[in-house]
Amino acid sequence: DRQATKPGLTLLIAAPRGFCAGVDRAIEIVERALEKYGAPVYVRHEIVHNKFVVDGLRAKGAIFVEELEDVPDDAPVVFSAHGVPKTVPAEAERRKLIYVDATCPLVSKVHRQAERQIERDRHIIFIGHAGHPEVVGTMGQVEPGQMTLVEEAADVAKLDFPRDAELAFLTQTTLSVDDTEDVIAALKERYPDIVGPKADDICYATSNRQAAVKQIAPASDLVLVIGSPNSSNSLRLVEVAERCGTAAKLILRAADIDPAWLEGVGTIGLTAGASAPEQLVREVVDKLGEWRDVREETLSSAVENMVFKLPRQLMD
Ligand code: F3S
Repeated sequence: DRQATKPGLTLLIAAPRGFCAGVDRAIEIVERALEKYGAPVYVRHEIVHNKFVVDGLRAKGAIFVEELEDVPDDAPVVFSAHGVPKTVPAEAERRKLIYVDATCPLVSKVHRQAERQIERDRHIIFIGHAGHPEVVGTMGQVEPGQMTLVEEAADVAKLDFPRDAELAFLTQTTLSVDDTEDVIAALKERYPDIVGPKADDICYATSNRQAAVKQIAPASDLVLVIGSPNSSNSLRLVEVAERCGTAAKLILRAADIDPAWLEGVGTIGLTAGASAPEQLVREVVDKLGEWRDVREETLSSAVENMVFKLPRQLMD
């Protein structure tokens, strides 16, 4: 029968994958805000970059908007995990809005570093991707002109600070570990006195997920990354797999898999970005099982037990 004729497929599932502690916390903040204040609760920007998470919270009474001006005066508002420029909470206070900040504590840590470097009269070189909300938020911790964005190593040559300028660097939390190393090396070569974090500000979840992909990709014919096209850390996972020489595809969910991708493929590597729910991983495994006789194997390269505290206003 049909069952018996399905060709085999080895599925290498990366661990860690999927939700990080900052995403868990941000989702719980919206859920608790809905319980405490009742629907609707406004959320400024996608709470995390995943459509299914956003749709799920919308069904519970969250309303997603891009700017604070879209929030009515009498409604509570949550700021997304990516962080916000200082002008946003300032405006919320001016309007006496009830707001809850779901900025990941690891992003807030970078914000505080930015303030500290400015207090020490240093100009900040920020390594990140232009336009990403985390970058907008972190650059918005300081006054315009106090922070310069650098996206890649080649940008370092374009900086026009003197060699002995008082400089500090900081990074986005969801960058490619390898690329960032190159940018920092270029910065240190041009500005030997530049100060910064020990390595970078890339978070544990980002670096663990990239390391896990490096374990599965070389043994895979194709790597599937579950994540959204606007999710920085998910895009980086696709790049990491490709640099291992393995074709990789970013998919939102199982329905995005084109059966043609499986032609001549005996082993698939599977992972999920930090904002992608585990449910979508199971969905992909089941989908592949419709076409192939799947043998699942999890390759674990780290154990995570990070948990972040909720904001005090939601603890009672
Ligand atoms: Fe925070 Fe890193 Fe997740 S910065 S939101 S723990 S991807």
